Amino acid sequence: MAGNGFGGISMKGIVTAQEMKYLDNITVLKYGVPSLALMENAGREVADIVRDILDKKKKHKVLCVCGKGNNGGDGFVCARHLFNNGYSVDVCIAGEFGDLKKDALINCKALARSGVTVFFVKEDILKLKKSIKDADLIVDALFGTGINGELKEIYKDIIKAVNDADKTVVSIDVPSGIDATTGGDLGVNIQADTTVTLGFMKQGLTEEEGKKAAGNVIIADISLPSGILEAKPLAQKKMAKLKDEIAGCEECELSLNRNNIVLGDGDCFAAIMFIGEGPGANEDKYGIPFCGAAGKILDELLESNGITRKEIYIGNVVKCRPPGNRNPKDEEISVCSKYLDRQIEIIQPKVICCLGNFATAYILNKFGFSKHVQGIGQLHGKVFVLRKHIGEMKIIPLYHPAAAIYDNSKREILKSDFKIVKKNLF
Ligand code: URA
Repeated sequence: MAGNGFGGISMKGIVTAQEMKYLDNITVLKYGVPSLALMENAGREVADIVRDILDKKKKHKVLCVCGKGNNGGDGFVCARHLFNNGYSVDVCIAGEFGDLKKDALINCKALARSGVTVFFVKEDILKLKKSIKDADLIVDALFGTGINGELKEIYKDIIKAVNDADKTVVSIDVPSGIDATTGGDLGVNIQADTTVTLGFMKQGLTEEEGKKAAGNVIIADISLPSGILEAKPLAQKKMAKLKDEIAGCEECELSLNRNNIVLGDGDCFAAIMFIGEGPGANEDKYGIPFCGAAGKILDELLESNGITRKEIYIGNVVKCRPPGNRNPKDEEISVCSKYLDRQIEIIQPKVICCLGNFATAYILNKFGFSKHVQGIGQLHGKVFVLRKHIGEMKIIPLYHPAAAIYDNSKREILKSDFKIVKKNLF
């Protein structure tokens, strides 16, 4: 087995579909590389390889069969580059114009404006069959790593038509119909001559069926950040070291009554970090932050914005429970905050959400916004942008979710402030 879940990404650079999704997300969200740039790099790399193949055979007619998602988008970019280089290009889209998603839609429009013939197939694939017959080479850009589960009949028909034609086929990322993780077949799959896999080798292409379907596999450099594969395991290692270092800490009186030190939880290389005040009874009992009533509200807010707990990191200003959930004292914050500082250095978040007054005051003071410190009632939902630190970092104060346990108006405010958080993540 190569990949074994987040953080266990194989150093050999063989990744599962889930791991590749994580790497793509972190490239876009955390490093700030536009997803369109990644798509452009991918499509251009594939076009270069297709050109080599065509030139060797002295052929020039290409058909790109594209899906409606990112794989299709890579296909549109590839088609545009081939067309711009003088090749004859047809593009078939499986679906309707209205089905096209974000970056794929942008690239489809750019393609059509460049003068490439684009046609859609929904049920009847007669037109596609004619185009297949005319083509010297077919680019398979139907499905990439994001698909699992049995394919719909129309896709099966398209795949069969491509295979039956016995033409040279270049698949983008994985042969359509192959599960990028298991290498298994999703009902039927493209039999490619060459597969240009993007960024890193996919685990499914090293398994028997996937290997057979892929033909010659070329790993295309789409300019993912250097060291991206090692970044998360490294951050995890540093966080584990910090945990070891603070075990048994007796630097303040909070150590007297605690059951567990609650360092933090989640993705140690997350783009977004949440900071609360200090552990409550449940957190103290289990050693996990936000695992009680306030945590439930936080989870709901995250979930309604399509963010999972696994994707964020969450910690607190103080790591041990203040007795009876009293406020942490200044001297406690002052000795404990060095641990929070280390966590921020390790995670390098793009967005820090401060939950409540204590986290907000600490973080605004730390990052040079002291003169803006006020109560959370005034600051919630505001976005502070730090331009010198780690490129750009945003600080967003929010009400503490505990404030919403018995106060529905705070819950509503939190809901609308979370929309601001989401907007600032991209
Ligand atoms: N409140 C906090 O501030 N932190 C926790 O971990 C739980 C509740």
